Formats: sequence, C-alpha cells, structure tokens
Amino acid sequence: MDQIPAGSTRPGAELNDAAASVSGNAAASTAGSEAFDAVRAVWPERLPLTMRIGATDFHPDSHTLDDSVALVRTLAPHGLDLVDISMGMNTESGAAVPWGDRGFMVPAAAKIRAEAGVPAAVSWNLGDPAYADEIIRDGKVDLLMVGRPTLAHPHWPLYAAMVLGERDPFDMLPNQYRHFLNKSKDVAHISGFGPINRDRTPAS
Ligand SMILES: Cc1cc2nc3c(=O)[nH]c(=O)nc-3n(C[C@H](O)[C@H](O)[C@H](O)COP(=O)(O)O)c2cc1C
Repeated sequence: MDQIPAGSTRPGAELNDAAASVSGNAAASTAGSEAFDAVRAVWPERLPLTMRIGATDFHPDSHTLDDSVALVRTLAPHGLDLVDISMGMNTESGAAVPWGDRGFMVPAAAKIRAEAGVPAAVSWNLGDPAYADEIIRDGKVDLLMVGRPTLAHPHWPLYAAMVLGERDPFDMLPNQYRHFLNKSKDVAHISGFGPINRDRTPAS
C-alpha cells in the first residue's frame, strides 16, 4: 500500500502541536499545521496522506479527546485522508494506561471518526479476529493497524480470515505462498499450527 503516515505520537510530537495540546501552544499550533502542509505539498494528491495522532496521554494534564477532534477537523481541509488513532506517550508515567484491555483505543477512534468526519484507523490490542471484524462491521473505524500480532505471526491476516470463515482465505496470498501454505495448513508439524476452527458462518 502506498501511503505516507505522518507521525505525531512520540517521536514526532511536534505534529500533535497542531492541536495546541498539553505539549503545545498557539505558536506550536501554527508550526504543526505548517509542517503538515509541507508534507502534503510534496506527497502526490493521488496517494493517501495519513497521520498518527496521540489522541490522549491518559494523564490528568493531557489534551482531551475533544482537542483531538479539533485537531483532526483542523487538518481535514489541509488534505488529511485518514487519521490513525494511538495514544500520546508524552508523559513519563503510563500508570493510567489500560495496557491489557482489548481495543482500549477504539472508543476514542470511533468518537474522533464520527465527530471529525475523517476516516480513522486504530491500533492497540486487536489480535482477536472476531473483535477486529466486529469493530469494522459496526463502523467504529475504517482500518486496523495490527502490530504485535503480526510480529508474532506474519500471516495473522490469513489466520484471522480462516477463523472468521472466509471461503478462500489463501487467495489473499502471493501465489508462491498460497500453494504451499494451503497444502500444509492442517498439519501441525509442517505448518506450525494445525487445524483452525472453521465452524463459524462464512463472512458475507
Ligand atoms: C517493536 C515495536 C515498535 C514500535 N514502534 C512504533 C513507532 O515507531 N511509532 C509508533 O507510533 N508506534 C510504534 N509502535 C506501536 C505500534 O505501532 C502499535 O500502535 C502498538 O504496538 C499497539 O498495537 P498492537 O496492540 O497491535 O501491537 C511500536 C510497537 C512495537 C511492538
């Protein structure tokens, strides 16, 4: 996929300053949107320009989700095609971050998507295929950024498609992988996994 993800979580917090957030001010706000414009000016219009924002720091002094909605609304007319919702990591303490909770950034992403009217991606704890499928179907977000599950298993999207009952999950793979992985998929000592429960109703 050809896209450029402008980063505004740490490192890259200066772009978050377009919101004049807890880490910013009015001058920083102007600098933040100017930085965004500079990226947009050199990135072809036909390709998506996305931006990852730290939507909250889970800290009492953090900028709020409403500030993040305002940031995305500000950048939308500057050519932001999709916003990727993460957390800020601008503070030393992560004590209040719900590290173990499934999809803990999804409510923030859904709110920002709905209120700013810009397509949204989200990450954090989305490794359960049924849950990942549900938040897309429910229209909470448009795209999932799956990190650690794909580090643990590079073919996580294939695994998810199989668990979700896709009819031809191997069709999404390049030819040379499709043939060999499909052939050995149920044999644990070859594929490393063994049979996957495919009893679910196929996704439409
Ligand atoms: C090894 C590693 C490196 C990462 N590097 C970055 C980074 O440079 N910038 C960033 O915004 N997020 C970074 N992240 C965070 C991931 O993009 C992702 O948001 C996070 O792992 C949560 O998603 P997950 O639960 O699917 O892993 C990194 C994560 C891991 C595990």
